[in-house]
Amino acid sequence: MLIWDTGFLITNWGKGYGKVGVRLGIDIAFRNLKLNRLETGIEPKNLRSIALAKTIGMEREGYSEKRLYLRGQWLDMVIFVARSEDFGIEWKPQKQKKRARF
Ligand SMILES: CC(C)(COP(=O)(O)OP(=O)(O)OC[C@H]1O[C@@H](n2cnc3c(N)ncnc32)[C@H](O)[C@@H]1OP(=O)(O)O)[C@@H](O)C(=O)NCCC(=O)NCCS
Repeated sequence: MLIWDTGFLITNWGKGYGKVGVRLGIDIAFRNLKLNRLETGIEPKNLRSIALAKTIGMEREGYSEKRLYLRGQWLDMVIFVARSEDFGIEWKPQKQKKRARF
């Protein structure tokens, strides 16, 4: 399983850019980088981000207490996930690249 922990930041809010940008990122992650799962942790009070995650089709997976230490305190996070198959993209295992031997 390949997991990419993501975050998102848009400066011009409420114009649909977040939705377009995150969908594009998901597409690149699944189609180009061949990942099969994305996760994001969102502060429970960040209703705009939660709405964004839901509206692009991410699924709420759980609630993680004291997950991130930020601005001098531990923050709880709502965890959302995107799986490649839920976005209509079949994931196949990649051939392992040969590693250098030391
Ligand atoms: C979260 C963020 C990326 C969203 O980007 P955006 O361009 O404002 O989002 P969009 O305009 O695409 O809207 C996405 C959804 O949020 C909803 N929304 C807009 N304003 C809202 C509000 N005040 N409260 C709740 N939901 C809201 C919209 O209705 C939309 O869903 P819909 O299309 O199903 O109606 C942006 O607000 C941001 O960068 N915030 C600061 C950084 C941050 O919090 N990052 C996330 C850390 S996990």
